[in-house]
Amino acid sequence: MAVVKADAYGHGMIKCVEKLEQLGNKKPDYYGVALTEEGIELRKAKITNQPVVTFSPVQASELNDYLKYKIYPSFCSEADFAKLKKHKSNKKLKIHVNIDTGMGRLGIPYQRAVEIIVRLSKIKNIKIDGIYTHFATSDEKDKTFANLQLKRFKDILNELKTGKIASGIVHAANSGAILDMPQSYFDMVRPGISLYGYYPSLETSGSVKLKPVMSLYSSVSTVKQISKGDSVSYGRRFIAKHKTNVVTLPVGYADGISRNLTNKMKVIISNKVYPQIGTVTMDRICVDTGNDKIKTGSKAVLLGKSKNHKIDAWDWSMLINTIPYEITCNISKRVPRVYTGL
Ligand SMILES: Cc1ncc(COP(=O)(O)O)c(C=O)c1O
Repeated sequence: MAVVKADAYGHGMIKCVEKLEQLGNKKPDYYGVALTEEGIELRKAKITNQPVVTFSPVQASELNDYLKYKIYPSFCSEADFAKLKKHKSNKKLKIHVNIDTGMGRLGIPYQRAVEIIVRLSKIKNIKIDGIYTHFATSDEKDKTFANLQLKRFKDILNELKTGKIASGIVHAANSGAILDMPQSYFDMVRPGISLYGYYPSLETSGSVKLKPVMSLYSSVSTVKQISKGDSVSYGRRFIAKHKTNVVTLPVGYADGISRNLTNKMKVIISNKVYPQIGTVTMDRICVDTGNDKIKTGSKAVLLGKSKNHKIDAWDWSMLINTIPYEITCNISKRVPRVYTGL
């Protein structure tokens, strides 16, 4: 299952799915989204017939959409029984049952999972297409808790097997588990961040070689020289210690460059790394290019590679205490996506 929610973590769901669909017999069997709307968007693009699972709890108001668009909602709590009662037609509604083995967010409690699934399996117009759980710590070095979650999940599967209760497709592994817990693969795995070329944390192994899919480029829009003591941008958070050149790039926090990166991030221009200076503004950032003569129109690499340098979402993440997931998701709609290699 390719996890393509949140516009494929900011990469563009439609284009990413188009690419994944080109993988022939290696293409995903399922797509994973967070919202029914995302599933509908994918269906309307008419680029895949594979089932779409939404990780959100089943909604009575969306029952028709699930059937019309081949979207399989998640059964996440006993409250969902009442919602399923609203499904009156004879057409089987396929669902995936989320079992909370320790994530503590969504899912039926593992202690009562078997009893709930037995009840569910008796509803005539519902089909359990799959059963899954989600790891809270599979990307941490210490796998104690992830293994406990796995044991709880396996115990349930064994009980279901003994009771001859059909569970459909069994899945658990997110990127962390794909990298380091092969014992959690079952019938299907659910990569998200690793599809886009990032490790989920700095603690996993590199058992699968990944390289970032997304680069972020801008181009130098203005160049000027400033003198010792001159300040740059809101709040005067940069004061020149000597005469220097400042270029601006037409990209700012409205494009997904966190304001917290102010005076911290770096930019590559003409294969050289320069410091970003002064407060990141909504539409523009400033870069100190020292004595170098930079031409307007020069390419600026904010995320990506030049001949000798690279900057990736981990570099930003470490400066502002987040993870690449948030960095790529935050690259806003205003930034044109250009797809190469498709
Ligand atoms: C239920 C579920 N499965 C799989 C994933 C993919 O996780 P990752 O991006 O860490 O691979 C997510 C993402 O949050 C998720 O919510």
